[in-house]
Amino acid sequence: MNEKTLNQIALAMVADGKGLLAADESTGTIEKRFKSINVENTEANRQAYRDMLFTTAGFEQYTSGVILFEETLFQKALDGTPFSKLLQSKGVIPGIKVDKGAKDLVGAPGELVTEGLDGLRERLAKYHEAGARFAKWRAVITIGNGIPSDYCIHTNAHALARYAALCQEAGIVPIVEPEVLMDADNSLEVCEEVTNRTLAAVFQELNLQRVLLEGMVLKPNMVISGKKCPVQADRKTVAAATLRTLKRHVPSAVPGIAFLSGGQSDEDATAHLDEMNKLGPNPWKLTFSYGRALQAAALKAWGGNNADAGRKAHLHRAKMNGLAALGQWSA
Ligand code: 13P
Repeated sequence: MNEKTLNQIALAMVADGKGLLAADESTGTIEKRFKSINVENTEANRQAYRDMLFTTAGFEQYTSGVILFEETLFQKALDGTPFSKLLQSKGVIPGIKVDKGAKDLVGAPGELVTEGLDGLRERLAKYHEAGARFAKWRAVITIGNGIPSDYCIHTNAHALARYAALCQEAGIVPIVEPEVLMDADNSLEVCEEVTNRTLAAVFQELNLQRVLLEGMVLKPNMVISGKKCPVQADRKTVAAATLRTLKRHVPSAVPGIAFLSGGQSDEDATAHLDEMNKLGPNPWKLTFSYGRALQAAALKAWGGNNADAGRKAHLHRAKMNGLAALGQWSA
């Protein structure tokens, strides 16, 4: 394992004023997104949509890397250039989602475990060859009546660490993503408690499995009120609670933390990140690895065929989040 190379990639992923575009929706997830704009989920439409995102002039000023779905890593842009080469030519690092999705956890109703470890070593070698220099694995922790169980948290943490160790062996920086969902009616305090339990387990497993902390990026949820909670914590409260939680669990050896947006509004996702950076200096870089909060406006503006409008909307959100990564955004 080349520790220096892994550290350099991780540092580049969280470079000042830059973050990650999560464009790694599986074929099933992109179908949901396309349905919202009445676009058919065909390979050609997926190619055209991602072409629009990656040919946005100037997005590389705010984007260090893009997380791709496997199909896209091996796909060509509309002009025939492989997408991985197109991104590299702009100085944007190609990354790859390697998990196989969250499935029902045996004996734990309502809870999920992420699959995809079988054959991962061989797949990683193939992805590295195709230009991927970082990867993503998303674990899903659900808040509900009596859940999450320790069983769910520990099973997911174990898999995350196994994935991370295999990535590093292959010269690929793992994005370690334990996502505590924000869909329920729980308070911010419950989210904080569950995020604390989750991060404690994740870092215990990462250490046990000898993962190089300097060669990874953490992708957590923010500590936030559940979407259905009648009382919504304000932005300053979310920022303070998220920082407090991260400081309790994330060693400063980790170069950076790149948040998921998880269903927050575009502006909340930007404002929360900005607020946390304004509260700095922090022990790690804090940036974005947004899917929906970077793409929702672009998807709508694109609408299936208006690439210029889509690019304009994409560039705007990328720029706002780039400013937030520096703590320089204002509404
Ligand atoms: P959201 O920002 O839409 O949560 O997506 C980020 C991601 O990559 C989830 O795995």
